[in-house]
Amino acid sequence: MNRLGLIGGTGLDHWGHAVHSHALQSKYGQPSATVAEFHVGNLCLYFLPRHGGQHQIPPHAVNYRANIDVLRQLGVTGIVAVNAVGGIGSAHVPGSIVIPDQLIDYTWGREHSFSLVDGDELLHVEFAEPFDSRIRKDLLRSANAAGISVIEGGCIAVAQGPRLETAAEILRFKRDGCDMVGMTSMPEAALAREAGLAYASLCVNANRAAGLGNEPVSMEAIEETLSIAMVKVRGLLASFFEEFEDVI
Ligand code: HPA
Repeated sequence: MNRLGLIGGTGLDHWGHAVHSHALQSKYGQPSATVAEFHVGNLCLYFLPRHGGQHQIPPHAVNYRANIDVLRQLGVTGIVAVNAVGGIGSAHVPGSIVIPDQLIDYTWGREHSFSLVDGDELLHVEFAEPFDSRIRKDLLRSANAAGISVIEGGCIAVAQGPRLETAAEILRFKRDGCDMVGMTSMPEAALAREAGLAYASLCVNANRAAGLGNEPVSMEAIEETLSIAMVKVRGLLASFFEEFEDVI
């Protein structure tokens, strides 16, 4: 069977009825949750909610290393991550879905490499293209097949959180060339690269970023937008899973 990891973000803390649940240990500590296994045709899908099953772990406290490590232990060759973001570019309206191709890391103080632990090899991974081009293309094809419109490409600013940004920070991200802002793509994407796993992301614009909308950003509005948009994300992923083959 082909093996794929799915990391769910805000608004996607559960997938469905699992056939197995894996309570795995990692030398990097506790992963966010047990990993739920699903079978879709010839695909073995492993779902891990990044913020925990009860959505109790904030972005800066996620154990990204343990999460990537347990998916690696399960033998996945690729990972699709779902990330809620705030829209900066004019096309990035609430509810729109993006397949990003770039990121800028503004996070600090996170355990951001497997090379920090005794006995781990020091890796300087190549990271010019942080997202896997084959998975990105397949996601785009699946979106088209399912009739779901997506924005192809775009740069995410990865902020530290958990607070939302100031208006000046968002203007800086915009000047830096960012189209969206989120809190969870890093160090997750880099750790997947270090682990040798192909990684791509589906970003969901939950709100206009700070200072760009008509009203202050509210968590209630974010949750409402995400609950509607995740129906489309699930449809896109279901179409993607039907076609997925291992990334060698
Ligand atoms: N900023 C950072 N992360 C986010 C936002 C935002 O405005 N919306 C959803 N995740």
